[in-house]
Amino acid sequence: MTMLELQGVTKKFGNFYASKDISFSVKTGEFVTLLGPSGCGKTTLLKMIGGFQQPDGGNIAIGGETVNNVPAEKRNTAMCFQSYALFPHLSVSHNICFGMVQKKVSRAEQDNRLENALSQIGLMDQKDKMPGQLSGGQQQRVALARAMVTRPDLILFDEPLSNLDAKMRETVRFEIKALQKQHNLTSIYVTHDQAEALAMSDKIIVLNAGSIEQIGSPQDIYYRPSNRFVADFIGAANIHQAFVEPTDQNNIYRVSCNLGEMTIESQEAPQGEQVYVCWRPEDAELCDANSENSFAVDVRSMAFQGNTLEVFGTIGTHSEQEIRLQLSGRDPIQVGDRIHACLTRQAIRFLEEVTA
Ligand SMILES: Nc1ncnc2c1ncn2[C@@H]1O[C@H](COP(=O)(O)OP(=O)(O)OP(=O)(O)O)[C@@H](O)[C@H]1O
Ligand SMILES: [Mg+2]
Repeated sequence: MTMLELQGVTKKFGNFYASKDISFSVKTGEFVTLLGPSGCGKTTLLKMIGGFQQPDGGNIAIGGETVNNVPAEKRNTAMCFQSYALFPHLSVSHNICFGMVQKKVSRAEQDNRLENALSQIGLMDQKDKMPGQLSGGQQQRVALARAMVTRPDLILFDEPLSNLDAKMRETVRFEIKALQKQHNLTSIYVTHDQAEALAMSDKIIVLNAGSIEQIGSPQDIYYRPSNRFVADFIGAANIHQAFVEPTDQNNIYRVSCNLGEMTIESQEAPQGEQVYVCWRPEDAELCDANSENSFAVDVRSMAFQGNTLEVFGTIGTHSEQEIRLQLSGRDPIQVGDRIHACLTRQAIRFLEEVTA
């Protein structure tokens, strides 16, 4: 069942479009992430879904009903923010119960949900403390519990982990995922952290300057980026302009780019004769100079990372373009070497057409 549907949603601040013609839908129980750089309009979208901001155009429906004119307090959504925004003068228990009191949940049911939530977030023995007496990670968990106990149709997360250190981020990330799965909570999660998005989401919506660049599973977004923005924003990508010549074999293309003549196997046809192509650093392997899809790289710098070796270099003869390879940590390479690397036919992906 569709829990949330946005159709052509637009939001303007003066002449500036914070959201431009945004359409997507979210199924019940789905975990959907809005991912994009600072200022791309993530929080604005979340606020419109929660009812804290009104769209200038388009339609927002929750559970099949248009909510454009429904105020925030009448929508069955809960928000979990970056700054946990706990009430400083209320204990952990009272913070968690706050939304249930407003929604007039019976006292017995409140106690029941509170007990459950406290044990799930591992804070049973902290329930009488005040927020100021908790660590950042603990406060974030209380904020999470407070949002979840109201059993919202939709839970809206705005960078809930960004105030936590790396280790705590990972712990709380797993807790959010576990609770979300257990209660089959429909979640919209905002982040600009691509690793978080890839690890947590059923579906990722990549935003840029108020518009959607791509919607897909984490695998789609990573392995089948639809354009340079997505390829570059999620993971590292090497991008080249290429001329495409079809071959007489199905799904096989010959392209010429500054790596040389390459052969690509792709289910999707390129959008034109001149397109961008991309590949991931980890797709490159050392090989002979005469192997298919091989190219020379002059190694300029390296970073040993244990299991892998990040190599930065230029494409020797054809161009001074900088490229990045991720090789095995055991590959015996020195700065100044000219090495030969190659790519499989499937590793090179077509992106958008080159426009003048
Ligand atoms: N009330 C407002 N008035 C004017 N401009 C606004 C307002 N709220 C947001 N904006 C602008 O709209 C754009 C999108 O803002 P938004 O807060 O949605 O970005 P974001 O993707 O959440 O960024 P971040 O990752 O930094 O939180 C920004 O350029 C911002 O300056
Ligand atoms: Mg924001």
